[in-house]
Formats: sequence, structure tokens, C-alpha cells
Amino acid sequence: MIAAGITGISGWVPEYRLTNDELSTMVDTTDEWIMQRIGIKERRILKGGLATSDMGTEAVKKLLEKTGTKPGEIDLVITATITPDMQFPSVSTLICHKAGLTNAWGYDLAAACSGFLFALTTAEKFITSGAHKKVIVVGADMMSAITDYTDRTTCPLFGDGAGAVLLEPVEEGLGLIDNILEVDGSGYKNLHMKAGGSLRPASIETVQNREHYVFQEGQAVFKVAVSKMADVSVDIMKRNKVKPEELKWLVPHQANMRIIEAVARRMGINKEQVMINIQKYGNTTAATIPLCLWEYESRIKKGDNVILAAFGGGFTWGSVYLKWAYDPK
Ligand code: UT7
Repeated sequence: MIAAGITGISGWVPEYRLTNDELSTMVDTTDEWIMQRIGIKERRILKGGLATSDMGTEAVKKLLEKTGTKPGEIDLVITATITPDMQFPSVSTLICHKAGLTNAWGYDLAAACSGFLFALTTAEKFITSGAHKKVIVVGADMMSAITDYTDRTTCPLFGDGAGAVLLEPVEEGLGLIDNILEVDGSGYKNLHMKAGGSLRPASIETVQNREHYVFQEGQAVFKVAVSKMADVSVDIMKRNKVKPEELKWLVPHQANMRIIEAVARRMGINKEQVMINIQKYGNTTAATIPLCLWEYESRIKKGDNVILAAFGGGFTWGSVYLKWAYDPK
């Protein structure tokens, strides 16, 4: 049986920092409210006519350089995103072109904030089946493209960024061990984009009604996010017999500091076991988990028990249990 594991990680965020102070000149909000209710200090915003594939390409180029991989060695790219540059072609296709991945094929996967977990689990199958040797999973979103900067209930939440991991065969017993992935389409009404798809194609009316932005019933989403993310994280610990003190890292989706704290409490772990960078980047949707891994990479050791957990639009949610496959370089 071939085991699949992450063997390299990289991230890229735009330079522009949209601070809470700047946001409070745009909508009726304050740094104090945002810090207390969400825990975000600033988020990065992509400017200059660039898009999701540009962030993904930068992350992939850095990943190749870092891992000493030639572009032609990559077999497949799977990008998790809900903000593709355009409806088609896919972001993965554009990344293959821009990063010179001449022997790779690729496609996108849409599962909102759980996208990275769904893509990682899908990519794993190409390695464990023996079909491919080197697969890149990208989590990238330009949330500023679908954020309504006149709506104070959603605009403080989101930011732009991209993370990328290399997945390869690893020593047996390391890498991806288990996953629990779930969806509930009835949750769509509390978190979705009203127009721009086949149900309500773009029209003057949809633009005038500001329907091309994230719509969210915050409180309803908050409650389900805490319970579902905690349920699957506790379940995956139990069925793999990982005690709270044996878990080295929880890598939670970064949507709200209060959600992260509640999930950690339910799992019986303390803050030192949790990767957190929400204060710097906000919710970058599919990019939150790889961006956390990228920032904490130097502190993760071979054999560490790591649980990735996410909840997002759909609803979609899940947890992935892995044993880290390499020591910091
Ligand atoms: O990643 C995808 C999944 N998404 C999530 O996990 C997000 C889940 N939801 C949340 O994180 C939170 O619900 C929010 C951060 C979106 C909102 O926080 P909340 O504590 O649930 O606030 P609320 O919606 O209950 O609003 C409380 C009050 C309201 O005022 P009133 O009606 O009590 O007078 C809002 O109008 O806070 C007001 N408010 C604000 N005040 C200052 C809402 N947004 C703001 C704001 N600044 N930006």
C-alpha cells in the first residue's frame, strides 16, 4: 500500500494590508468590535488587475524552488477555490500554463472553506493508487472580488491569499491517515452568492441588487460551524486513538477566533496546540489551512500528529488526520 504525504509547503499573500482602521472609514465598524467578535486585525488584498491564478502561480513557483522540483516533474494540480479568474478555464489550467508545468493536467474543486481538505483527500488517491508521483494541491481565493465593502457584517471577515503543498509517496505510517468529509446542501441558504451562476446569471438587476457578493447569515453559520467542526475533529481523534495530549497540532479553518477557541475546547486541547494566523490574513477561504501550515512549517516535526479541520459554504465540513512526513529543513 502506497502512503501519500505532504512533502513541501508554500504560501503567497498580496502586499496590501487592509487594516481595521481603514475598514472603519469605509463602513460603520471599529477595530475593537472586529477584534472582540472575530479576532482579525488586518487582511491582504490583491490589486493591480491580478487574480486567483496569479496568487496560486506564485505559491507553486516558490514550492517548486523550495523542494528542488522541476516544473516538468509535476503530474497533476488540483486547486480548491470559489473565486476562479473566470468561469472557465479552471485556475489549475492557468497555473499549469503560468508556472510552466508542461507535463501536468489539472482541475478545480469547489467546496468553499473546506476546499483544501476536499482537494487534499482527492489528490491523495492519485498517489496511493500509483497513478501519479507528484501532485500539487493549491488552496487559493481572492475573496475581495466577491466581498461587499458596503456590508459591515461580511466585509471585515475576508482576505486574499494562496497556499500550495506537494503530495508524494512517503514512508508507510506517515502522511494522510484518515479523513471525515461531509456536506449538507440545505445549508446553502445561510451562506452563498445569490447571482452569477446558472440559476441567476448576471444582469443589470443582479448587479443593482448587489447579488454578486458573499451573502451570510452570520449567527446561523456560527452555531453549525462550531458544532460540526468540533464533532468531526473529536470523532477523528477517537477513531484513531489520538488522546488530546498526543495531538501536536490542530490546523483549523480561520473564520473566527471564537469558533477556533470553541473547537479546541471541545477537543480538550490547549492554545499552544492550535495554529492561528487569522489576525494577519482573515478568512482566505480555501487558503487558510495551507497558509497556516506554511507559517508554522519550521515548528512541525516528522511523526507529529496533525488534524486539519474546516467548515464552510454548502455547508461543507471535515477533518483530516495526518502524521507529518518530514522534519524542518
Ligand atoms: O468561513 C465560512 C464560515 N463562516 C463563518 O464561520 C462565520 C460565522 N459567523 C461569524 O463569525 C459571526 O457570526 C460574525 C463575525 C459574522 C458576526 O458576529 P456575531 O457576534 O454573530 O454578530 P451578530 O451578527 O449577532 O451582530 C451583533 C451586532 C448587531 O447589532 P445589533 O443588531 O445587536 O444592534 C450587528 O448589527 O453587531 C452588529 N455588527 C457590527 N457592529 C460593528 C455586525 N457587524 C458589525 C461590524 N461592526 N462590523
